[in-house]
This record gives sequence, structure tokens and C-alpha cells, in this order.
Amino acid sequence: MTHATSTVLDTAASRIEHASSLDKLSEQLAAVLRRLLPPGPIRDLASGSPIGHPAHPLLVTVPIGSWTAASMLDLTGGDAVATRRLIAAGCIAALPAALTGANDWLTTSGAERRVGLAHAALNYTALGLYTGSWLARRRGRRLKGALLALTGAGVLSGAGWLGGHLAYALGVGVDTTAFQHFPQDWTDVCAESDVPDGRPIVREADAVPMLLVRDNGRILALAARCTHRGGPLPDGTISDGCVTCPWHGSTFVLADGSIEHGPATRPQPTAEVRVVDGRLQVRRSNEPRALRTRPIGH
Ligand code: FES
Repeated sequence: MTHATSTVLDTAASRIEHASSLDKLSEQLAAVLRRLLPPGPIRDLASGSPIGHPAHPLLVTVPIGSWTAASMLDLTGGDAVATRRLIAAGCIAALPAALTGANDWLTTSGAERRVGLAHAALNYTALGLYTGSWLARRRGRRLKGALLALTGAGVLSGAGWLGGHLAYALGVGVDTTAFQHFPQDWTDVCAESDVPDGRPIVREADAVPMLLVRDNGRILALAARCTHRGGPLPDGTISDGCVTCPWHGSTFVLADGSIEHGPATRPQPTAEVRVVDGRLQVRRSNEPRALRTRPIGH
């Protein structure tokens, strides 16, 4: 059975994904944002590195909840002052949500960046409508305020759908190694002598590309694909027991894959390493995730 609604929405999303006319504006906006948000602890926080997940989806719940509650009060004849305060709370809470969204958007490209731009444009439109709603209520015009809020809710729904498309269809914010698993049993990957000092090499274990590096005489193994947006860690820099991704600068501790600096929010999968008769063998070590190579729903 064809679902007409999803076909219409997917067609709209596809048009945005292919709208290369948005790229010039995106580049100009990104240049400004990069100056405002230089790499560092603030950007790590905005990315969600300290909490292990992107911060943006968490923060958007506050304005959405406040504004939805306000419209519920409007529709049920609830207290006018409480409704106005909920609208104001939503407008204030939208600012950190916008900041974290802009931060995430900076590390997107191509179709993701275009959809992200449209998502942001709709969200800012909704914020403008809710701000207008608050102003109308302050002047005692509740009906106008209620109508502006309902219009804002409609625009916000479109923005929310595009946000879902970014995460669930395009994979923005998803750990790019979520479906990769190193072998459970010890698996031969190469000769120990294949791993030079200080320079990483790439080998596969169960078809998972793996970065092997000799650090202080010890051979360490991590997934070669950066958990953030899939950057090639073998092309990154190795220093002070860490590897830094060449794409957006996420830095992972070689020994355990933990995050030293964002914007990555998930640690890098690692493998245990042993040497048997001069051959290097690996097996999975940190496997905090439930997703399988082929998710089957149980
Ligand atoms: S892909 Fe973004 S930091 Fe690696």
C-alpha cells in the first residue's frame, strides 16, 4: 500500500535535498557561525559531548512543550497570564535550542546542510510567530495571540518533520559506527610487524575497517570510521595517545576510544589486541550498544 502523505513529504524533502541554490547562502551563514562558535569547550557542550548524545534534541523539548501547553490553555479557556508566560518561556528556551542546532548544522554538508537550513528557517519563522503571539497577548489581544500561536504550531510541525528527516533518514547525529561490530572471537588481521611505529595502518576485521596504531610499544585498535560523521581516522593525526579526526577535530583516546574533545558524542569502538606466533589478533572490547550489524528487532 502506498502512503500518500509520506510520499508528499518525501518529495518535499527530496526537493530541498537537491536545492543547490541554497548552498551559497549556507556557506555565508556557516562562515559567520564558525567565527561565533570556534572549536572549544562551548562547542563541545553545544554538541552534547559531555552527555553522550546530541544536546539539540533534548533542548527542543522545552519550547515545544511550553508552546503546546499554551495552545492547550487557549483552546480550553485556561488562565490568560499563565498562557502568556508559557509562550514567553518557550521563546526564551528556543534560544539554546537554536544555538545547539546551529552548532550541529556546522558539521553537515550537501543534502543534510540544505535540509538543516530549511529546518532552521521554519523554526525561526515559528519563533517569530510565537514572539508576535506574546506581544499580542501583552496588549490584551488574546484571540490574535492564540491564532498566531496556532500558526506557529503548524510551522513548527513542518520544522519538526524536517528535523526527524535529518536524524532518521539522513543520519545526522547518529553514531556512524552503530551497525559496525568487531568480531566476538579472536580474529587474525595481519602480522605484528605490519604495524609500524607512530603511523596508523588500516586492516579489516569481520569487514569492519579498523585503525591499528603502535603507541608506546603497544598496538591499539579502533574503528577507522569516526563516530561523529564518519570521517577517516587513519587520515587524522596521532599525538599524546590520541587520534584526531581530520574532518571536525574530534579527538579520541587510543587506549579506550573515549572522547577527549568533541564534537563527537559517542566514543570510538575499540578492539582488544593480542599477538600469537607473530600474528595480530583482535576481538571486540567496548560494546555498549544493542544495535546489531543487521538489526532484526529482537
Ligand atoms: S567526522 Fe566529525 S569529527 Fe570526525
